[in-house]
Amino acid sequence: MEAAAETQRVQTLVEAGVAHLPARYVQPPELRPHLSRRRDATADRGGIPVVDLGPSGGDPVAAIGRACREWGAFQVVNHGVRPGLLEEVRAMGSSFFRAPMEAKLRFACDPRSPASEGYGSRMLAKDDGVLDWRDYFDHHALPESRRNPSRWPDFPSNYRDVVIEYSNNMKKLAQTLLCMISQSLGLPPLYIEEAVGEVYQNITISYYPPCPQPDLALGLQSHSDMGAITLLIQDDVEGLEVLKDGEWVQVQPLSDAVVVILADQTEVISNGEYKSAVHRAVVNAHHPRLSVATFYDPCKTRKIYPAMQLITKQSPLKYREVLYGDYVSSWYSKGPEGKRNIDALLINQ
Ligand code: OGA
Ligand code: NI
Repeated sequence: MEAAAETQRVQTLVEAGVAHLPARYVQPPELRPHLSRRRDATADRGGIPVVDLGPSGGDPVAAIGRACREWGAFQVVNHGVRPGLLEEVRAMGSSFFRAPMEAKLRFACDPRSPASEGYGSRMLAKDDGVLDWRDYFDHHALPESRRNPSRWPDFPSNYRDVVIEYSNNMKKLAQTLLCMISQSLGLPPLYIEEAVGEVYQNITISYYPPCPQPDLALGLQSHSDMGAITLLIQDDVEGLEVLKDGEWVQVQPLSDAVVVILADQTEVISNGEYKSAVHRAVVNAHHPRLSVATFYDPCKTRKIYPAMQLITKQSPLKYREVLYGDYVSSWYSKGPEGKRNIDALLINQ
């Protein structure tokens, strides 16, 4: 029984035609998404800011500083990554998830170890807890010593080349953004990049099948990301939401934009001046949804601590130093709910 549950993909349930949500996917009432209360949120109507990085975009460092302070999330346009590449990654992801189960299972992840590379569905190794209505493919992309494209799908035929090109482009864009975020805090441009050290990059393609009872489920439960910064692209189906002042606000899909989500280590480095964004994904009854998240993380032996330059009388040291590997273990053992992991680092709790 347990072995079957471990390899269960959400897509298999959907293809078998389940009419009711299986109990393991039913969220407790207080965590359900209240889909009927959702409203459209574009950048000029209460949504996350859109920052133009192009030559006519004004002062992007100031705009990013405001977005990080108010939201911990924003979208960037004119970011220099060719729009065709974003489209190729999405197309390649959907063609993988459309392939027969048998072909996909050749690339299954190891369900016993957390964050293992490959095709999977459940994020946490622990066995209790409500499951997300999501399947995914996780790629270990950087450093190159960890990159082994033979573990990635070989269909469509350009899959591995596209992932490599995308990985390199997302590394560059993340570094550009980390420079701007550092500058917006009054730190030297390379400060955050150097505090993080060599980048460990994972690329996760998430596939959210249509859900028979979307009001009862979540595609991905509420969490903040554990590394430094996340860059996410999505297709044209809504689903990503960011928590702002106690309200869930949807992130409008913009085909050429990249969604930027501040993660926990940037909150620590900024000594809490910027907060990591709490976010989740909701699902719907009719349309599958695809997103591609690229995580920019420290290596597990890296120690992360607040920037000394940001510690003042008015803003005293807020977070304890943390070994990133310990942070990751705690995240996977306690679960990601809300911000409980970063709260454990607070000096005055
Ligand atoms: C994630 C994430 C949201 C989405 O993978 O950490 O928050 O829309 N994904 O898929
Ligand atoms: Ni996330």
